[in-house]
Amino acid sequence: MSKVSGRHSKHESAYLPIHQHKAQLIEAVKESDFLVVTGETGSGKTTQLPQFLYHAGFGQNGKIGITVPRRLAAITVAQRVADEMRCVLGKQVGYQVRFDDYTSQDTVVKYMTDGCLLREILADPHLSHYNVIILDEVHERSLNSDILLGLLKKNFSDRGQSSTGRSVPLKVVIMSATMETDKLSAFLGDCRVLTIPGRTFPVTCTFGSAVGPKDTQSTAYVKEVVKLAFDVHTSETAGDILVFLTGQIEIEQACDQLFKKAESIDYRYDVQDQTVEGLLILPLYGSMASDQQKAIFQPPPDGIRKCVMATNIAATSLTINGIKYIIDSGFVKQLRHNSNVGMDILEVVPISKSEAHQRAGRAGRTSAGKCFRVYSKGFWEQSMPEYMLPEIQRTSLTAVVLTLKCLGVHDVIRFPYLDPPEERFILDALKQLYQFDAIDRRGRVTQLGELMVEFPLQPGLTRALLKAAELGCQDMLLPVAAMLSVENIFIRPGGTDKQKEADEKHRALNSSLNDFATLLGVFQSCKSSERPSAWCKDNWIHWRALKSAFSVETQLRDILHRLQQKNHFPVETFVGSRTDMFRQCLCSGYFTNVARRSVGKTFCTMDGRGSMVHIHPSSALFEKEAKVNWVIFHDVLVTSRVYMRTVCPIRYEWVKDLLPKLHEVDVYDLSNVAREEVTNEEITKWEKREAAKRQAEISAENVMKKLEK
Ligand code: CDP
Ligand code: MG
Repeated sequence: MSKVSGRHSKHESAYLPIHQHKAQLIEAVKESDFLVVTGETGSGKTTQLPQFLYHAGFGQNGKIGITVPRRLAAITVAQRVADEMRCVLGKQVGYQVRFDDYTSQDTVVKYMTDGCLLREILADPHLSHYNVIILDEVHERSLNSDILLGLLKKNFSDRGQSSTGRSVPLKVVIMSATMETDKLSAFLGDCRVLTIPGRTFPVTCTFGSAVGPKDTQSTAYVKEVVKLAFDVHTSETAGDILVFLTGQIEIEQACDQLFKKAESIDYRYDVQDQTVEGLLILPLYGSMASDQQKAIFQPPPDGIRKCVMATNIAATSLTINGIKYIIDSGFVKQLRHNSNVGMDILEVVPISKSEAHQRAGRAGRTSAGKCFRVYSKGFWEQSMPEYMLPEIQRTSLTAVVLTLKCLGVHDVIRFPYLDPPEERFILDALKQLYQFDAIDRRGRVTQLGELMVEFPLQPGLTRALLKAAELGCQDMLLPVAAMLSVENIFIRPGGTDKQKEADEKHRALNSSLNDFATLLGVFQSCKSSERPSAWCKDNWIHWRALKSAFSVETQLRDILHRLQQKNHFPVETFVGSRTDMFRQCLCSGYFTNVARRSVGKTFCTMDGRGSMVHIHPSSALFEKEAKVNWVIFHDVLVTSRVYMRTVCPIRYEWVKDLLPKLHEVDVYDLSNVAREEVTNEEITKWEKREAAKRQAEISAENVMKKLEK
């Protein structure tokens, strides 16, 4: 690799389209509080604009912060910019993503995920450490970026710049690749828009036949992209290939399959373009190891064609030079709220037409290109929406609503949303916060809520952790929370022999009938072993994932420690075994995810939806579940059935007092809480109605008892 590593040269970036607009950009930022910048992907917005501003002196009175929706993008772009500015990453240029902070006192140009900036606003609402905030990739419409947009707008309109106690005004730049700029500009008080015209060459697109309009659930596209990539490799002239798939497992499989095919051919006869002497296949997905990432951007050695198999991250977040051929699966993995199970679930769904254009465009940056679509024209017409729904309109808002409330935004319905979420989603979020005791009946943040917002974890897990802190057993919950925050730790090698061995090793780690305890056990065994990496290898565990879990655990411990010093924490004593204590802590966070055995192997959830769920085969309970009647679970996987993953058996008594909370409020009761403070009168009305309901239940129960007698 070192042979080609020097090739991404300093002068290469000087030819990017954005350089012609340097003076104009700097001037525009100086003149206006808000600025919208759009331009073709790859024109240099993310890597160059922060450098322009830095050299123009903007970093002297505070940092230049750039937010992107994806971790990997923040990391790789920061690395690139550090290289271009000839500094060590973490010095002048750094990055921060959840659980990974690569910044220092010296950091002026700071790349981060939008979630990180939202946390910073919690601690410092006026962002007093910043001179410029650049919200990048706004067209992605990530939940956090939409919220940041609203907050920045609100901040200005509420107070005006002068009274915020800032010595220098905060400059806000919004960058987007494709989004309707008029809408953005109008949202931000008709602010100025600068467009960077890109150079694009024509891309010819062809439709396939492997995925038809009805195949929205099929995974046939994986095989087909491999076939197409191979065809392109053997029959098209030199130029690199970019394949769009949906996730890690699929990408690894496709890489393997393509490698086997490419290995078996005779390059003298089988490949049409005789200058192509080999194929370099590289995966690209979010949780990739950082040493692998660099290879993606390096040009392949002479005569070698590069084929990158990527998730949607390569559509706009990262630009790979030299791509001439695109193979588009037509699908993307997306977080969506599933109302049947009441949780956010990662689903593979058709991309939008606008995204398909974006993907194809990646082939035309430096010369004319070709895009091969796996799907048919019928799929395009009937199954692909024009635009993707913004994340704010399709995922759970619980964490965001809590953050807003903690920032003093009580009226979460009339918050300035670029596209408002449906009111029922906001009400659902309030209901869940109320169930967790994070807000009270008046919609005010409770003491518990204020503690919960400090943890970058989902609210249930945070609540379990805080319960453990009360009982003094955080040493059991911290590792579990950490393990649930990193990628999957169990290696599934594929190939029957290896898989069998891995399965056996994993089974041996399931010491009890509790998947949460297994996570704890793996964490502890590895940590206390003499050679942790060897231990992982031996047990088919991802060492990299565990290493991150160790670091996450330390960070969560630090947050908890800090909070314990600042706040009064209630202390409780527990009578019973440690495993019972562990499981009861879990119950206090996961009582929203309780299921009771229904018939045979089917369980039924207790959240009022009464969904039918099953234990996932990877759970320790899968084979031995016969004796278990009540369980809690961490999340679900939806295929033809709904599977509970990371499961733990519990006793009904432990959730008996918590379950009624799930049915206590009707979401419509909360609509006032969402808008403004509730009046006492309303509370009384509400309480009366609750009492009447309870009375009715008691009488019904009495009737039942009489009948039984
Ligand atoms: O943000 P925008 O899409 O406008 O462009 P950019 O991400 O700033 O990319 C500008 C150039 O930097 C492209 O040619 C990328 O290929 C290159 N780049 C790179 O070579 N390595 C990175 N890690 C990031 C960007
Ligand atoms: Mg960019």
